[in-house]
Amino acid sequence: MPLSDHIALVTGAGSGIGAAIAHRFAREGATVWVTDADRASAEATAEAITAEGGTAHFQPLDVTDEASCADAAHTVHTAHGRLDVLVNNAGVGHVGTMMETTGADFDRLYAVNLRGVFNVTQAFLPGMLERKHGVVLNLASIGGIVGIKDRLAYCSTKFAVVGLTKCLALDHASDGIRAVAICPGRVETPFVTQRLQEYDDPDAARREMTATQPVGRMARPEEIAAAAAYLASDEAGFVTGVPFYIDGGWTAGT
Ligand SMILES: NC(=O)c1ccc[n+]([C@@H]2O[C@H](COP(=O)([O-])OP(=O)(O)OC[C@H]3O[C@@H](n4cnc5c(N)ncnc54)[C@H](O)[C@@H]3O)[C@@H](O)[C@H]2O)c1
Repeated sequence: MPLSDHIALVTGAGSGIGAAIAHRFAREGATVWVTDADRASAEATAEAITAEGGTAHFQPLDVTDEASCADAAHTVHTAHGRLDVLVNNAGVGHVGTMMETTGADFDRLYAVNLRGVFNVTQAFLPGMLERKHGVVLNLASIGGIVGIKDRLAYCSTKFAVVGLTKCLALDHASDGIRAVAICPGRVETPFVTQRLQEYDDPDAARREMTATQPVGRMARPEEIAAAAAYLASDEAGFVTGVPFYIDGGWTAGT
């Protein structure tokens, strides 16, 4: 059980990749704090993990709200005195070019996808630094490595998450902290299903999205969770400051 005795917290764990990571971590022996801005979905994930025999706690957490982040850090530290693994997974998407993106869209994406990572990490990092031990896994995207057509705001937030992760890793490598930017290609979650509905022809858009990945399909959330479990474990002790691609061959070439 590579994550036994580990305390982990996952943001946006009520759905998709975050829920899969929470389940996987619990199966690997971790005590998992399942958090989400959507209270009901996070509660459901925590209950499902407990029903499977895992150890999960539920905490409402809106990553855009600094008070909510501080409250979560206080709750976790009061319960365990530490957090070993933080997964900044909460994220939102948007379809649009420069002229199709409003200032409000742009601000909303930055508030969740980038400022949210900053807020939660700033709340939990002091405890990790005190113990000189901690792993921060940030869900970036292949859209943080290469541009994706019609994803101007989204890709720019994810490029920034990759940059933030590299700087965090550099600043604290000598403090026992590792930080990795997980970069999935397309993953079959409500995130993608909702994006598809923003197209005039969702079926054609799905075919196009699948075609960008040479393996000919989207990833399953469990495939991203498997990588997260490895990256969170001590076996990945020499892995830090890198984008970790899980992209079905997307970026291998044309
Ligand atoms: N699905 C993909 O194809 C894909 C690909 C690459 C990267 N990603 C990234 O992976 C992460 C998870 O994506 P997913 O596909 O599981 O999405 P999802 O929509 O299924 O789940 C996202 C979760 O984040 C929560 N959330 C949204 N705003 C929040 C906030 N302010 N505070 C806390 N929680 C909030 C939502 O309630 C939801 O439960 C995101 O960061 C996304 O950008 C997804």
